[in-house]
Amino acid sequence: MDREEKEMTIIVTGGAGFIGSNFIFYMLKEYSDYRIVCLDKLTYAGNLSTLEPVMQNENFRFVKADICDRAAVEEIFQEELPDIVVNFAAETHVDRSIKEPGVFLQTNIIGTQVLMDACRKYGNIRYHQVSTDEVYGDLPLDRPDLFFTEKMPIQTSSPYSSSKAGADLLVLAYYRTYDLPVTISRCSNNYGPYHFPEKLIPLMIANALADKPLPVYGEGLNVRDWLYVEDHCKAIALIIHKGKFGEVYNVGGHNEKQNIEIVKMICKELGKPESLITYVNDRKGHDMRYAIDPAKIHNELGWLPETKFEEGIKKTIQWYLDNREWWQTIISGEYQDYYEKMYGRR
Ligand code: NAD
Ligand code: TYD
Repeated sequence: MDREEKEMTIIVTGGAGFIGSNFIFYMLKEYSDYRIVCLDKLTYAGNLSTLEPVMQNENFRFVKADICDRAAVEEIFQEELPDIVVNFAAETHVDRSIKEPGVFLQTNIIGTQVLMDACRKYGNIRYHQVSTDEVYGDLPLDRPDLFFTEKMPIQTSSPYSSSKAGADLLVLAYYRTYDLPVTISRCSNNYGPYHFPEKLIPLMIANALADKPLPVYGEGLNVRDWLYVEDHCKAIALIIHKGKFGEVYNVGGHNEKQNIEIVKMICKELGKPESLITYVNDRKGHDMRYAIDPAKIHNELGWLPETKFEEGIKKTIQWYLDNREWWQTIISGEYQDYYEKMYGRR
């Protein structure tokens, strides 16, 4: 089939990363008449080998490009004339943002602007911004009755969350000022396959398997609200098809866990001793608790999480056991040569 006959063309930015790649697999599986174009810079967090299973799919195209590069972005928009743009591309690791904020502002804010400008230029294209619950700051541990709703003020803690919040405000401004048909999703912490091993769950799995210390920040009492990645992908698919323009949708599954609970669960599942747990200096400005109220997306779009945490974490651990090569080549740094080796001279 050629691309003119496709029902819909979607540009997915950041699709070589964790959630974006899961989203691409989900969309190609569920919408066999859609064309999916992945635009990714392949930073340290992008791993093209992740997309190898779909590289030959006639409904899929990969383009290596930076979302901040206006000329490159416009060229892809001109070639593809997309119906929808879903922006996952971002710098995402809070610890890195504390060390080096500049690239976070560049990619997360300026990149968003460049993409939305291209949406305006090529026909007021539908734009979806993948954002995070971290824009709401944090909740106190002693108020379990409080949850993030879409009406809560933006109150960020880290350069990462500030850059995501800046982008969200810009997205809403493009709706109000230019009538760009936008939506925003703010999701809680995801877990699942292809999660980069610098983040809590995959890092703990990889370290535990190597009998290395498991570095828990502070006392490990911080709470995150974990959602299986495919449930997030389903929420985004619903929003891009049925969401109301100009609206924000919180996505989360009422699954709050302390970090230490997660780490102990991983030890137990892998048969590793808890003596591997090592308490290390806390993260600067460390958010205490995240907890999403997903009532809006449930009531308006009918979304509900499908994977229970106990099942999802087992599946995830099994995936890391079955796909050691994927994360071991990341840890060794080899994955960064993959693009050059496979596509460098094509
Ligand atoms: P990730 O770090 O795994 O992947 C990011 C991807 O973006 C990589 O493939 C990288 O190469 C690409 N990228 C980075 N800078 C780019 C640029 N300038 N141009 C083009 N591509 C670039 O991230 P993730 O965890 O998959 O998160 C995806 C999105 O979801 C982000 O916007 C993040 O803020 C948001 N989010 C993540 C979580 C989570 O738990 N991981 C939760 C809520 C929201
Ligand atoms: P992370 O996976 O970086 O996600 P986020 O900061 O976006 O929530 O961290 C999840 C939680 O785990 C957070 O409270 C910080 C903590 N953490 C550790 O205790 N040790 C680690 O090595 C990492 C990476 C995170």
